[in-house]
Amino acid sequence: MPPKGFRNLENFISHLESIGDLKRIKTEVSPELEITEIASRTVREGGPALLFENVQGSDFPLVINLFGTEQRVELALGRKPASVGEELVEIFRKVNPPSIGGIFSVLPKATGLLSMRTKKVRRGDVQQVETEPDLSKLPVMKCWPRDGGKFVTFGLVLTRDPATGSRNLGIYRLQVYDNRTTGMHWHAHKGGAAHYHEAKKLGRDLEAAVILGGDPRMIFSAVAPLPDGMDELAFASYLRGSPMPMVKGKSISLHVPAEAEFILEGSVPRDVLRQEGPFGDHFGHYSMEADFPVFNLSEITHRKNPVYPSIVVGKPPQEDLYLGIAAGEMFSPLIKIIQPEVKDMWAYPEAGFHNLLAVSVDERYPKGGIKAMLALWGTGQLLLTKCMICVSSDVNPRDFSAVLHEIGENFDPREDFLMIQWAPLDTLDFTSNKFNVGSKMGINAVRKNTPERKTYAREVPDPREKHPEITGFRLLAGGFCAVRIDESRTDPKEMIRRLFETPGLEGVRIIALVSPDIDLTDDMELIWGIFTRFDPYLDVLFEHTELRGSAVVYDGRMGIDATVKQWYPPVIEMSEDIKDKVETRWSEYWS
Ligand SMILES: Cc1cc2nc3c(=O)[nH]c(=O)nc-3n(C[C@H](O)[C@H](O)[C@H](O)COP(=O)(O)O)c2cc1C
Repeated sequence: MPPKGFRNLENFISHLESIGDLKRIKTEVSPELEITEIASRTVREGGPALLFENVQGSDFPLVINLFGTEQRVELALGRKPASVGEELVEIFRKVNPPSIGGIFSVLPKATGLLSMRTKKVRRGDVQQVETEPDLSKLPVMKCWPRDGGKFVTFGLVLTRDPATGSRNLGIYRLQVYDNRTTGMHWHAHKGGAAHYHEAKKLGRDLEAAVILGGDPRMIFSAVAPLPDGMDELAFASYLRGSPMPMVKGKSISLHVPAEAEFILEGSVPRDVLRQEGPFGDHFGHYSMEADFPVFNLSEITHRKNPVYPSIVVGKPPQEDLYLGIAAGEMFSPLIKIIQPEVKDMWAYPEAGFHNLLAVSVDERYPKGGIKAMLALWGTGQLLLTKCMICVSSDVNPRDFSAVLHEIGENFDPREDFLMIQWAPLDTLDFTSNKFNVGSKMGINAVRKNTPERKTYAREVPDPREKHPEITGFRLLAGGFCAVRIDESRTDPKEMIRRLFETPGLEGVRIIALVSPDIDLTDDMELIWGIFTRFDPYLDVLFEHTELRGSAVVYDGRMGIDATVKQWYPPVIEMSEDIKDKVETRWSEYWS
């Protein structure tokens, strides 16, 4: 019987080692780029967690790829993420709460779970050693060649709302500026930023603690898209089945998890912004420089022999893919309670999650799919979803081909297309050329209550014969045709119009143009290469568009220009010399 969860990182690491799912690497490695390349390769190969015992410039070991497979996430949680979701659904069906926030506020009462809280303790291992802040002692990584410097990537940032006292825990990267100052990269839509907003209104600085390591269920809870105001530490306690022990910080008034590896204590001044970035991020391109608050450290505490946890994000697949999948499995069942027509949903990890969400809907009345989309855009972090596709309740939203097939048969742009031109956007999204603002689109491909289905092409003539500028194409299900061009030589919008006029392509339903770097045969890269690279308002066009009254009516085939635009930040790539170095040393690491 595998153990049901681990109180701290030490226990988790020893267990992984005992089952051969953690590799100790004794060879000296550089925290600049080399660890990234080793970790990314290991994730792609489905390999073990890695404990680097000898990181250049630091006395502390570094652990990475703790969550890089579905099995390890399940071990970390002590159970299957979906089973947590099912349990929560069971509980809440009984209490009929009005919203996701309402669900969590009744959780302790509904379950009678005394664990749904933290407990204060007088001593914690995380305070065995107290030191002046000196970030140069930690094995902080520089992840990608064009990163603006070194970043703490797996810090759980704990803050309190200065108005209500409620806690928030979120993972936000911290750019190291000097030994006692970092950036604080919380996006405007996140819990930490909301606390900072309140503190500013009150004219106060905001205390913060950055937690490194601890109970893996707490680490997961920091990533989980819990509603604002819901205490992630109480949720972690629920997952553990016992209250998380918290000890009072040494230089701050916050209580911090007693079993963490390190705590960086400090505060975020209300009136200082500093340029942060660039940084190679989840969407596979760099997120570029922007102004963010800073974090001034007042003290660092740690265990006697702490391990520094790290993670790499970048072009999928990376380790965070498995955390995101688990979060989806756990929380999507809850959505069904407040939106009963939603049968299932799936945010595509290939597209960085927020860029593509497929939802299966039990449409009880006409346009129920449209209603579901509007409701989901108003629910928690689903707000950040860019492209939403609704299909009938018997379609598996995880099956991209099945979703495309439904679009091919049912989508009528005249009445099934939603375009929201100006909306809040994920901070990482670069496609609109505006910060935090851009457009969204919804496709309602739920089957209509009529026997007719549209037909779509199952094969098409090679478009290269008519258009030699095209360097490749692939026809997917539903008449969805991906076409590769070199956007520096051919105007993509013009190419879409020419393809609409090309004989033989009448049965195509959607034409998506992609850039030369996309391998059309690689499903993961294709979904990434399309859905992270267009802004619906700027880049989607239909064969026919007309203005009727105040409404724009779309008709015919749809074109998506998902090529790289001149304002897009660079794609994240590891430099060739590091790839060569890692290739040469590969067997040394594993010896
Ligand atoms: C490895 C990793 C790094 C992340 N970095 C950031 C970040 O720098 N800024 C941010 O706002 N969200 C980041 N996130 C996402 C948030 O942690 C996540 O949205 C979380 O649910 C936020 O919680 P909150 O709404 O309680 O703040 C990151 C997630 C992971 C897994």
